[in-house]
Amino acid sequence: MSDQTIEVDPVTLEDDYDDDGGSGYTGSGSTMTLMSAAKVYVYENGRRFHGWREGRYAMPNDEEEQDRMDLQHHICLLALSGELYVAPAMKDPKRILDLGTGTGIWAIDIGDSYPDAQVIGVDLSPIQPEWVPPNVSFEVDDIEQLWLYADNSFDFVHIRQLTGFINDWPRLYAQALRVLKPGGYFEAQEFVGIGCDDSSVPIDSYMFRWFDLWAEGIKRAGKQLPDSHADGLVSAGFANVVYRRIKIPIGLWAKEESGKEIGLYMRQHFIEGGESIALAVLTRFLGWSKEEVDMLLVSFRRDLMIGRYHGYTRFHCTYGQKPEKEKVMEGVNEGGKGEEEKEQKKKEQKEEEEKEQKEGEKKEQEEEVKEEKIG
Ligand SMILES: C[S@@+](CC[C@H](N)C(=O)[O-])C[C@H]1O[C@@H](n2cnc3c(N)ncnc32)[C@H](O)[C@@H]1O
Repeated sequence: MSDQTIEVDPVTLEDDYDDDGGSGYTGSGSTMTLMSAAKVYVYENGRRFHGWREGRYAMPNDEEEQDRMDLQHHICLLALSGELYVAPAMKDPKRILDLGTGTGIWAIDIGDSYPDAQVIGVDLSPIQPEWVPPNVSFEVDDIEQLWLYADNSFDFVHIRQLTGFINDWPRLYAQALRVLKPGGYFEAQEFVGIGCDDSSVPIDSYMFRWFDLWAEGIKRAGKQLPDSHADGLVSAGFANVVYRRIKIPIGLWAKEESGKEIGLYMRQHFIEGGESIALAVLTRFLGWSKEEVDMLLVSFRRDLMIGRYHGYTRFHCTYGQKPEKEKVMEGVNEGGKGEEEKEQKKKEQKEEEEKEQKEGEKKEQEEEVKEEKIG
């Protein structure tokens, strides 16, 4: 797939919803080092969110959202002809890092592809499966904090679909540069925005409105929403930066079979995932009620089904290579602030472990007392 204008199927498509004006939405179909604290979840407007570092990330982590992430993974693979990344092929990698790993599906696939590499997936939520390849492990951590990984210790650092949820991208690029081995690659993949090349989607369509409102909420929350990471990677000191974008049709309007297939999945992804993506952003940052979001989603789903609308979203892939001669990033690679933060983070982790241990011991004692009473 490419960023060329997508050829439209000349056969006029029927709208995919009933004539009764309904939305056509049929409801959603479709070895771990984890801190127990992260398993405490919070509920908001009927959806489950991460509880550890509560409020950091504005999308749910429940099963419905996990299904959306896995469907999106499938769409990414279709867009990249089955490839997990677009950077030059890795040769005998030893360590791979997946930031904001979600269900861990990319980490597991890359672990299967490179059985000799150790793959680490990091996320705020411990929602990854327990049965994973032996070379894949998951950690609960906040990637916006200082990373404790050693300098020059990874061959590849991957992040997917985190634009709009990171406060400080330059800091993240700098940390990635620090932990990468010279010659190693950082790659970011993002779906951003709604587009149309032939004006078939009216500018007041809910396809645009849904995205524009989401983007406004993200801006209001003070998050950065880069689609291309190219400038950021160059500024951080990466070399050989490459940016590629691919148009992904939404619906069945593309002429080519491959376009129809991916378009069908993309439309379903928005129908089922529209709420996951927009709910907390609109309620938390724009002050909308759940009912207002529901109404917006009905209109959004209706417009997604209109066959004459030739809308698409863009898949943005950016990668950059750590130069052989390392550029030192102030405050992150050097001592001073970075070292202080590292010490502070180690202290916090130790305190958290001690707290967990104490709670565990207390629970054990309580259980012993209970057993004694029963006995
Ligand atoms: C949209 S999902 C993408 C998941 C995965 N990268 C994929 O493409 O399948 C974003 C994930 O990033 C995680 N996340 C968001 N902010 C984070 C942070 N500050 N630290 C760690 N994980 C974070 C979320 O919990 C969520 O699982």
